[in-house]
Amino acid sequence: KKILSDLDVAGKKVLVRVDFNVPQDAEGNITDDNRMVAALPTIQYLLDHEAAVILMSHLGRPKGEPNPKYTLKPIAKHLEELLGKPVAFAEDCIGPAAEEAAKKLETGSVLLLENLRYHKEEEKNNLEFAEKLASLAELYVNDGFGVSHRAHASVEGVTHFLPSAAGFLLEKEIRFIGDAVNNPEHPFTAIIGGAKVSDKIGVIVNLLGKVDTLLIGGGMANTFLAARGIPMGKSLVENDKIEEAKRIMAEASVKNVKILLPVDLVMAAEFKPDSVYEVSALDDLNQDYMALDIGPETCKLYADAVKDAKLVVWNGPMGVFEMDAFCKGTEAVAKAVADSNAVSIVGGGDSVAAIKKIGLEDKISHISTGGGASLEYLEGKVLPGVEALDEVRRPFVAGNW
Ligand code: 3PG
Repeated sequence: KKILSDLDVAGKKVLVRVDFNVPQDAEGNITDDNRMVAALPTIQYLLDHEAAVILMSHLGRPKGEPNPKYTLKPIAKHLEELLGKPVAFAEDCIGPAAEEAAKKLETGSVLLLENLRYHKEEEKNNLEFAEKLASLAELYVNDGFGVSHRAHASVEGVTHFLPSAAGFLLEKEIRFIGDAVNNPEHPFTAIIGGAKVSDKIGVIVNLLGKVDTLLIGGGMANTFLAARGIPMGKSLVENDKIEEAKRIMAEASVKNVKILLPVDLVMAAEFKPDSVYEVSALDDLNQDYMALDIGPETCKLYADAVKDAKLVVWNGPMGVFEMDAFCKGTEAVAKAVADSNAVSIVGGGDSVAAIKKIGLEDKISHISTGGGASLEYLEGKVLPGVEALDEVRRPFVAGNW
């Protein structure tokens, strides 16, 4: 695929799809600007190479109608601070407001368009809408990895009308996650957590063909433990996934993949931050309690399994990370991943938050900006936003097809 540095951008208007769908608090303050910071290298490169930069993004799910709750105006303000220069804002992403703002945009300047999802045509990948977006610029760059699993107008449709390439963030995500899935270094350890097996079955099944060791934690581990015949008390167990969990474990043993499950658990009386709790071994689980975190022995076991790996992929918390009493397992895994010498790839909101909470983000090789997108990529799916980009046309060399 073409990447940004394959394009001649000087003097051109470049339309860039970014994923500025960032979390905000009730007052609209941005609570995590990771996705915006991650897009800066592409924006800065374009500015340094004398392009005029037109950024477009969605924010939340306004369902095809303008809604001030989802305006990108505060995002433009924050981007000004990050870039240290003014960012023009257009009140609409198509039509006269966008056209005029784009027309008067000078080389070396930045314009952010209002939320793409104020128009229902965006999610429908309507080609007329995509053409209107494309008409604002001469080149298109996709740097919105987090939205590249969506075949939307600003991600897929627009590539039918403009020369297109991947931005630096998209390229980095594809390189790191793509290498892990297609060409992993060994030993390769994956740590998969989160509440439900059903959310991650695709990822687990795809990784079974690639990893040496698979560590399972979080609520989903309960279903695997139940599949091994452990009575789980009041813990969340997806009964309709027990057979699937058994199949996965059987396949793992055929493929020589070691699956590690918790050996002890933090059992709580209630699903509450101030609930009473106790640490129990698997043969001693209080049947009136529920598992809300992995226990200290499991933390040691998992840290050991990460230590000698050459590649580690981690997605999903080990317990109810948002409650202080039940975040220790996730933090222990975060520390183990950061301390290992492996190439480390971390994705998923809670896993990334845990790494940041203990201040070790610099020790992670790649922190993914994708939620659904990184999961789909780990599942081995083709991302429409990547697929749509132009191919590099290499000169024909005789004998080299
Ligand atoms: C995300 O937050 O995962 C992306 O921005 C995609 O958002 P969506 O799930 O609303 O399409």
